[in-house]
Amino acid sequence: MKEHSISPEISAQALAARVQELGEQISKDYADKAPLRIIGTLKGSFIFLADLIRAIRIPVKVDFMEVSSYGNTMASSGNIKIVKDLSHDISGENVIIAEDIIDTGLTLNNVMSMLYTRNPASLEIVSLLVKSQKMKLDFPVKYTGFDIEDHFVVGYGLDYQGYLRNLPYIGSISPDFPAASYVRKE
Ligand code: IMP
Ligand code: MG
Repeated sequence: MKEHSISPEISAQALAARVQELGEQISKDYADKAPLRIIGTLKGSFIFLADLIRAIRIPVKVDFMEVSSYGNTMASSGNIKIVKDLSHDISGENVIIAEDIIDTGLTLNNVMSMLYTRNPASLEIVSLLVKSQKMKLDFPVKYTGFDIEDHFVVGYGLDYQGYLRNLPYIGSISPDFPAASYVRKE
């Protein structure tokens, strides 16, 4: 039987250090811009968002939104469906969308266009990971955690078939990875 494993790519320590830097930067950039609202895109960004807001020193409010695009595969469809909309009015607010990963950028492009129609005072993006070589659209990503190569990654909120979000670090797997039955040893 084939031994499956997760190849570590970004350690929990490296993630924590980078998220801290992003929080410091946002705190500086938005010091004179209130109110600040961070919108987490569910489900992938929930761990990143939880760590990021604790690294932000200025007053900040949070909301969530869920759009679906991928299904259970590893390829982007570009089809977006709003599964859960925001529960607050963002007009007049300085909004930062917190994304787990920007792959083709198709998902975020749809989210951005929709949010612009709600008249935020400003709208920016913070993405933990960006596959910049693969991005099909030219995005103004103001804050990037890590720029990564074009391959499929999991962990720290990112899933494969709904699993592996609980991995404390970012790693890569092969498409035949048995996510539903894999038990982490450490
Ligand atoms: P995009 O529309 O191609 O930018 O896809 C964005 C969404 O696809 C992300 O928010 C993730 O939910 C998912 N995604 C893209 N690449 C990966 C990956 O490498 N691992 C896990 N999820 C991914
Ligand atoms: Mg996502």
